[in-house]
Amino acid sequence: MMNERDNSPERPESNRADNVSRRSVVTAGAGLAIGAAVPALMSGTGARAQVTNGRPRTLIIASHPYPDRSVVNKALWEPAQAAEDTMFKNLESVYGDNLQGFDRTEERRIYRDMERLVLMFPIHWFNMTPMMKAYMNEVWGSGAPSELRGKELLVVTTTAGGADAYRPEGRLGFTIEEVLTPLQASANYTGMNFSEPLAFLGAAGAGADALRQYQDTLAARLREAPRRT
Ligand SMILES: Cc1cc2nc3c(=O)[nH]c(=O)nc-3n(C[C@H](O)[C@H](O)[C@H](O)COP(=O)(O)O)c2cc1C
Repeated sequence: MMNERDNSPERPESNRADNVSRRSVVTAGAGLAIGAAVPALMSGTGARAQVTNGRPRTLIIASHPYPDRSVVNKALWEPAQAAEDTMFKNLESVYGDNLQGFDRTEERRIYRDMERLVLMFPIHWFNMTPMMKAYMNEVWGSGAPSELRGKELLVVTTTAGGADAYRPEGRLGFTIEEVLTPLQASANYTGMNFSEPLAFLGAAGAGADALRQYQDTLAARLREAPRRT
């Protein structure tokens, strides 16, 4: 198992949070070790099962297999839960770790009126989380759900590896966009518009300032209109 402290692909050396801009790939440096809580940010950012604000044009599906150890995703759930016209759903809070427990009919009913689907998860072994994958298997099935056609798919993800590692010439040899290719192919298959992912690189161990910038970046992206085809 990859350990963020010792074996992560790259531990950023300096704080690069000032790089945060409108770029979709955001890097920041380590200030705190992973697991070092930022009390002001963490209060009230628990894994709420489901929150709906206004008429949900955006459905956010969040997943983290170890919510008690999460710092970055937990911080991101705050603006996700507060966004206008959004339904936020945390898979582990709703379904636990039951890989086959999804309410397929109800999940797909939500798709009808939405215009943007956001999948939010940490990268674990260069992949999505088990519950996110199970959600797609069980809710989407093996076909291409017609309710998704023409809608935006936005992936929001976090990594320990930094921007230097996620390069063709870097330690990993692939960009984060390439790591996310299966999701892009899934969007193509279902007729969704795969928009540029919002990737917070080198995020493990982010300090309070970087976490706030991540939150602001995500909130700004969610305020943008859904990019339908
Ligand atoms: C089991 C496991 C596997 C991981 N695999 C990767 C990986 O493949 N690439 C990477 O950049 N970071 C990897 N990480 C680091 C996480 O992506 C990082 O800690 C996480 O995005 C930070 O968000 P969090 O505080 O919400 O957990 C891994 C972490 C764990 C626990």
